[in-house]
Amino acid sequence: MFEPPYPPYDPKDKSGYETVVKRWPVILTGIIDTIYRIDHHLGVSLETSDATSEDVTKGQEKIAEGKGIIEKIGKLKYEMARDRPLEPIPDDGEAFIDVYNAELKRLEQDKNHTWFTAPWLFAECYLYRLLRSYFCQTTHWCTFDPFSFQKEETFRSSGKAIYQLAKMMHELQVDKQELIGDSEKLGVLFKEMIQMCLWGNATDLSLLTHLSHDDIAHLQTVGKEAQQARKEFILKDDQDNVWSHLTSLQDNDVTVDFVLDNAGFELFTDFVFADFLVTYTPHVSRVVFHPKLIPWFVSDVTPADFSSTIPNLLSDTFFPPPKPVGGTETPGVDEVKALPPSRPEEHEYLRNMVTRWQSYIDSGVFSLSVPLDTPLGAPNSKADFWTSSRPYWDLKEKAPLVFNGLSKSGLVIFKGDLNYRKLTGDIKWPVSTPFETAIGPLAGSFPILSLRTNKADVVVGISQEIADKLDVAGEKWRVNGKYALVSFVPRT
Ligand code: F6P
Ligand code: MG
Repeated sequence: MFEPPYPPYDPKDKSGYETVVKRWPVILTGIIDTIYRIDHHLGVSLETSDATSEDVTKGQEKIAEGKGIIEKIGKLKYEMARDRPLEPIPDDGEAFIDVYNAELKRLEQDKNHTWFTAPWLFAECYLYRLLRSYFCQTTHWCTFDPFSFQKEETFRSSGKAIYQLAKMMHELQVDKQELIGDSEKLGVLFKEMIQMCLWGNATDLSLLTHLSHDDIAHLQTVGKEAQQARKEFILKDDQDNVWSHLTSLQDNDVTVDFVLDNAGFELFTDFVFADFLVTYTPHVSRVVFHPKLIPWFVSDVTPADFSSTIPNLLSDTFFPPPKPVGGTETPGVDEVKALPPSRPEEHEYLRNMVTRWQSYIDSGVFSLSVPLDTPLGAPNSKADFWTSSRPYWDLKEKAPLVFNGLSKSGLVIFKGDLNYRKLTGDIKWPVSTPFETAIGPLAGSFPILSLRTNKADVVVGISQEIADKLDVAGEKWRVNGKYALVSFVPRT
């Protein structure tokens, strides 16, 4: 068992404290609102439609179960605000009850088992697992993802950046033959792609509890100039090393794995990157995507999110048309349906690209690590591990199937902040700790690339001097999502 020499971050640290005081309560309130609205609509429709008595009975059961979940979440909010102990996960038949509860017992011995004393990363994972228990113990809400509306809404508001990227990929397509033979140009493009995929992580719904959709669209601006301007915000930059690694792969059957983070726009950028790797570079034959099997950190990709992405992107009505010049009115649903595509070429570019992705899925060039129709919570040893509370240095011992699969990979890309926290154990490493030290015994097992915008305190692999400068400048550089790390460790 790897024992890091420093403790993990906890809510005694500022960001952790703010998370417990502000961010989690907002997220919990959001779930309550969602269930309340569904219950309300259901109630109205049962009264007004010509529902059969069986429908009425089921509907009423669902409403009652919804109320039960709301009550539990209300109680949870109350206990969280009062620094009460974390309750054991109930015996709901799903994964990791013992793992979470054993850790709670251990924390209790050290008197670190309350909301303001438990390690931040553990408590946050526990929170999503506990929420899952509220849903999976019901009949009518068991397959319900309380964040699905939010994920879809945000995805809908990403149209601008998505059409922009589709156009960029179309332009590449035009030069495809020339590009394929030009390793130097490919190397330059590879970095553009990494950055696009990296900054795609800047939008995360669990963090952006206060931003409007317009703010989010602004964050997603992916033009080349924006990329260039953001380069200075990449505090650790291993992009060249990753490219050298990929070009050195001799095997002609190379798989790249994406340990996914967020659905919607970020997943779109993952697809674009994956598409670039298999379509343009001669180095990659296949891409495997690894989702989460329960609703996780609000916006993480579940199999259902993954499956709905391509149909959504292919739908002519998924993205609302741009607002009319000089007007602010958003057209109603029927008007949207009646509108011809406002950007016919861009629609075409997007359609071509996404149709190619579908063909990759059909032929197995792109695949999900679990069946596409895997329902929420269904145990699956190929993916459960990602929603345990364990640091990733436990992968070999605790999830050998996943570990063995990844061991054969040409490159495993860990997307986002949470994956970074789990890679490094969310430990208070000094910033100058090498990334390969901070990920413990996982280092060297397979080639690892972490693409992370900084949203939580843990940061390694940069000089103390840089950290001090940013601190002196008063930047919240560890948590404001403006700075990023591209960290690579090869196989040894
Ligand atoms: O601190 C913000 C936070 O919600 C963390 O708790 C979590 O690690 C992260 O953001 C989620 O971000 P991402 O989607 O990039 O993993
Ligand atoms: Mg996430």
